[in-house]
Amino acid sequence: MTETIKNKGVNLKTKNFERPIANLNKETAGTTTKALNTLLANEYAVFTKTLNYHWNVTGPRFHSIHNFLETQYRDLLEIMDNIAERVRIIGETPISTVEKMKAAMDIDETNGEALGSNEMLDDLLFSHMKIQTHLKEVITNDKLFENDPGTEDFLVGLLQKHESMSWMLKSHLD
Ligand SMILES: [Fe+2]
Repeated sequence: MTETIKNKGVNLKTKNFERPIANLNKETAGTTTKALNTLLANEYAVFTKTLNYHWNVTGPRFHSIHNFLETQYRDLLEIMDNIAERVRIIGETPISTVEKMKAAMDIDETNGEALGSNEMLDDLLFSHMKIQTHLKEVITNDKLFENDPGTEDFLVGLLQKHESMSWMLKSHLD
């Protein structure tokens, strides 16, 4: 049964609500989505790198770094899922193809086979710091969150997650 037939003759109180977030206008939703999609693409870049290093790390610390990076890429997968779903909650569409991810990311890919374990962890930490900077730029744009404190809170939570992941990476290098 299509929506049209199902709702025929029914006066839905919510029929003029364009999106699941109250009072969020189209322009702000568009700007927030652009920021979230860039973030999603960068998370995808770091996720792929982390997986790459999990596979290709060698040396005396192999076992611990291999396992550590597994927990990190699993966390990044969950982060990506949450960002894409936040875009849906805003009422927009997340980037959903590898091609579009590649076009939107501004974190460079690296060849894991050519790096030593400390260079891998250093590159990951550098990437997480870049995401933190991007997140702070978005979070401090107060105008964006006047009618969308939920997304602001979501991004602050994400920043905390990246700070924690950065701490764990940095602790391996100190
Ligand atoms: Fe694995």
